[in-house]
Amino acid sequence: MTDHAQLEADLSAQIAAAPDAAALEALRVAALGKSGSISGLLKSLGSMSPDERKTAGPAINGLRDRVSAALAERKAALEAAELDARLAAERLDLTLPATPRRKGAVHPTMQVMDEMIAIFADMGFALAEGPDIEDDFHNFTALNFPPRHPAREMHDTFFFNPGPDGERKLLRTHTSPVQVRVMQKTNTPPPASWIAAGQDPPIRVIVPGRTYRQDSDATHTPMFHQMEGLVIDRNIHMGHLKWTIDTFIARFFELPSVVTRFRPHHFPFTEPSAEMDVQCDTSGGEVKVGQGTEWSEIVGCGMVHPNILRMCGLDPDEWQGFAFGFGIDRLGRLKYGMPDLRDMFASDTRWLSHYGFSAFATPNPASGLS
Ligand code: PHE
Repeated sequence: MTDHAQLEADLSAQIAAAPDAAALEALRVAALGKSGSISGLLKSLGSMSPDERKTAGPAINGLRDRVSAALAERKAALEAAELDARLAAERLDLTLPATPRRKGAVHPTMQVMDEMIAIFADMGFALAEGPDIEDDFHNFTALNFPPRHPAREMHDTFFFNPGPDGERKLLRTHTSPVQVRVMQKTNTPPPASWIAAGQDPPIRVIVPGRTYRQDSDATHTPMFHQMEGLVIDRNIHMGHLKWTIDTFIARFFELPSVVTRFRPHHFPFTEPSAEMDVQCDTSGGEVKVGQGTEWSEIVGCGMVHPNILRMCGLDPDEWQGFAFGFGIDRLGRLKYGMPDLRDMFASDTRWLSHYGFSAFATPNPASGLS
């Protein structure tokens, strides 16, 4: 065997046996690097006679080309083997159950509030809001509750400790104080976060918001939500009130029409005052609105008391109006059948995933009044 043939045989064997890319690179440097064995042979061509070079040249170049090709082939084989090993090791087990993704849900109260706002917006009502922490004036006095009148006790109010000026702030017991904030012009503009400011009649607003009373049982929670309505215009009477509530209730419960009744009641800020009931059937264990022989109370309402109008700078001989206050959570309970109102605020995500609504497929019963 010639020296060249011996060198080629040795290199081929080593290349074929190279275990990894690093070993292969070391072989390449040893053969083809600057001072590699084949590079040395190529350099020796320079000192040969032209005759010698004629035979040695092609032989050495051929050797270089075959060794280069063998190196490239082994490199490709090593890379393919590495990929195969990785594919085998990283194989996905598609039979494993996927990790469940937790999805949020729209709380029924927010859903009901949105449905109510959409229906009243369709009827031309604007939105107003006021503060949760109220003063005695707006929550009681301006609403015709005389000082120390027992009606103030009716609401089981949460009071704060008196401030330095002796004033006791409170958590509003209803959304009715916003009636006053909407009608009464004051010199101090309200913070931008309340969409309520003194405005001139005609007025048509709804006021959704949180309200608070010391009360807790299946149909009462210490924090709950109300939606106030206020309409002030000329020649407004109880017929307008009844039409507004009837139309709203039919739309909200997605019924062609509903049977409601006024029951006389007392609120200091309305005269006459009423509670309104809707026809329902509870015989099957769940409440069905719009059928049966029973009644469910849905709203407190009445004609705005002349004293309130006067207090807000409006002449009762010129302006009249009606007001109503819905319990939002209660309406939701009637429509969607939650057994206990307290669960609504217990922050149990299992409850929420059962009663909650998808944020992407919100049923909207209010798409256009017919
Ligand atoms: N504010 C009353 C309540 O909370 C409801 C109401 C609102 C009654 C407006 C009449 C007019 O019970």
